[in-house]
Amino acid sequence: MTDIIKELEKKREQAKLGGGKKRVDAQHARGKLTARERIDIIIDEDSFEEYDMYVEHRTNDFGMEKQKYAGDGVVTGSGRINGKLVYIFSQDFTVFGGSLSEAHAEKICKVMDMAMKVGAPIIGINDSGGARIQEGVASLAGYAEVFKRNVLASGVVPQISVIMGPCAGGAVYSPAMTDFIFMVKNTSFMFVTGPDVVKTVTQENVSQEELGGAKTHTSKSSVADGAFNNDIETLHEVKNLINLLPSSNREKSTNNKKDFQDLSPDYSLDTLVPDNPNKPYDMKELITKVVDNNYFFEIQKDYAKNIVTGFGTVEGRTVGFVANQPLVLAGCLDIDSGKKGGRFVRFCDCFNIPIVTFVDVPGFLPGISQEHNGIIKNGAKLLFAYAEATVPKITIITRKAYGGAYVVMSSKHLRGDINYAWPSAEIAVMGAKGATEILYRNEIKDKEKIEKRTQDYTEQFANPFIASKRGFIDDVIRPHSTRKRIATALENLKDKELSLPLKKHDNIPL
Ligand code: HXC
Repeated sequence: MTDIIKELEKKREQAKLGGGKKRVDAQHARGKLTARERIDIIIDEDSFEEYDMYVEHRTNDFGMEKQKYAGDGVVTGSGRINGKLVYIFSQDFTVFGGSLSEAHAEKICKVMDMAMKVGAPIIGINDSGGARIQEGVASLAGYAEVFKRNVLASGVVPQISVIMGPCAGGAVYSPAMTDFIFMVKNTSFMFVTGPDVVKTVTQENVSQEELGGAKTHTSKSSVADGAFNNDIETLHEVKNLINLLPSSNREKSTNNKKDFQDLSPDYSLDTLVPDNPNKPYDMKELITKVVDNNYFFEIQKDYAKNIVTGFGTVEGRTVGFVANQPLVLAGCLDIDSGKKGGRFVRFCDCFNIPIVTFVDVPGFLPGISQEHNGIIKNGAKLLFAYAEATVPKITIITRKAYGGAYVVMSSKHLRGDINYAWPSAEIAVMGAKGATEILYRNEIKDKEKIEKRTQDYTEQFANPFIASKRGFIDDVIRPHSTRKRIATALENLKDKELSLPLKKHDNIPL
């Protein structure tokens, strides 16, 4: 028995060495942590239960039978993040460049299956040269098994991908099918074909960073949801997100309701909206003043900045926030914000997270490029997502809510549960100036007359009362009471039940 225990200890110690000291040093020299160091940071102390530590690859081609490493380039298991159960895999770049073999894929699939069975989030730390070249199609089959599980797990348990090194070729499609992707600045990249292939095929010269680095994917492609400075910061942010998310779609809603939460009025909100309707203000100020401890976890903060999306808690309950941002494009909806907002709303709906929407939207962004690139279908993504969402939906119009964009932004007509307006709200078909220029086209040259008409229109229509008279707005509330009103609405709606007509699945405009 003692001998076996000794043997076991030896095997464990060996497995922990990964691809050996030289390769570990090289990993550190690049500013990257090893697979196990990453797990140590993200998982609560003493809670990691490792599986398949002794698994080895089964290839005999290319002299591979002489190169075997316990664990085969990926560390897998379960653990707790601030007490919450998660399943995790962390690719070990020091073993065959973290490349995916058949056995490596089987290990990943095992933890994915467990996470699905018990209803716990899956975290995948990616740092890999892609398919294990020595294994050929067996490796491709392994990827396919992972992809299939990504799809089956979608909407069942939250899936988070953390890109901490290379992620290239078909390998990118596993993270692409997860809920959130976080990248590390300067040390991670994702692309389907690298700079050399790009040069050969299109004669374009591009660096790895420019083609698929963190900045590119968080600001241009929207493939990634956040980028952070180094491994440690990134892993801590993933922990922060996990704290906010439910473990699975079986959880009704995440509720860490504390005994006491300060709901006292915030009078600074009464002056947030400037008197001049053309002056912008920062919608994030409103969000941070509404959430507990002013803590807002923003998703896709560098992409489509005209719409803000992210999570926070109100009285301990997790809420998904969607808000037009008057500071960027005057808060107009466009192609990018339609995609960003639509995806976020759908995530919340999958996982029973109530949605709070702050509206200040002058309409859809006009332009040839918007039309030619599909504002119709992309704008419809947000509309569709709001209309199908059955989670509690609370909407607050702070200023403009014009035309089709008014309808899109979680209006009463799309089954908004509680729809409030601030006194500064202007709910109308369009802005007063545009409206009078159409209605009184024959007077357009008479500046004074048009100005008077605009003023009349503003007085008559640019307010929250016409919509309130019809019941499209449940109440006109004082800005300083916003947090309290949201907290009450969330409490009242906590047992909301609403279902959709029976169907296999919908056909959202993709
Ligand atoms: C086997 C691999 C490997 C791979 C890297 N290694 N990628 N072993 N299969 N795919 C090994 C290297 O041989 C080396 O071994 C060690 O990992 C580190 O690699 P380096 O090249 O020294 O590191 P670096 O200079 O940092 O470059 C990293 C890299 C590069 C950019 C990832 O290794 C690379 O381009 N690898 C090949 C990438 C690739 O073409 N993959 C297949 C893509 S196709 P030693 O023993 O020296 O430490 C694909 C299809 C998926 O993935 C389809 C899914 C449907």
